[in-house]
Amino acid sequence: MSVDSMEKLFVEELRDLYSAETQITKALPKMVKAASSNELRTALDHHLRETEEQVKRLEQISEMIGESPKGETCEGMKGVLEEGEKNVHAAKEGPVRDEAIISGCQRVEHYEMAAYGTARTYAQNLGKQQMVQLLERTLEEEKAADKKLTEISNTVHSQARRAA
Ligand SMILES: [Fe+2]
Repeated sequence: MSVDSMEKLFVEELRDLYSAETQITKALPKMVKAASSNELRTALDHHLRETEEQVKRLEQISEMIGESPKGETCEGMKGVLEEGEKNVHAAKEGPVRDEAIISGCQRVEHYEMAAYGTARTYAQNLGKQQMVQLLERTLEEEKAADKKLTEISNTVHSQARRAA
């Protein structure tokens, strides 16, 4: 299919996000397992549940426009997750590994914030108000998750310094 209209480009954006989100639902449980900090584990677990809802929202939007959200592999997210996993395993278990997890997850969040911001703007310009609301809800969750990770990074860091 040639992407020759904004409607088609919007569908491509949704498919990219759908692939990214489904990859994240598989990666997050591994990060929860690798984390030592209870606060980090709780935050990742919470975001896993949010991510499952985000996948459903993308399915809902795809249904509204009568297109399947499947069929694409988000190579960008695949790379971000692979690199993140590699860094997590290379880091010593405990606070250093927790920081490596946070680092990888923040890259994921920023990728998503970029993609949802774009998709939201397309929906806005295409006059699809209901979809704008759904995409914005997810965008706000990604921003909040990123902010939370920064807070946890500060806590983990100061705990590690006190323990040293
Ligand atoms: Fe997400």
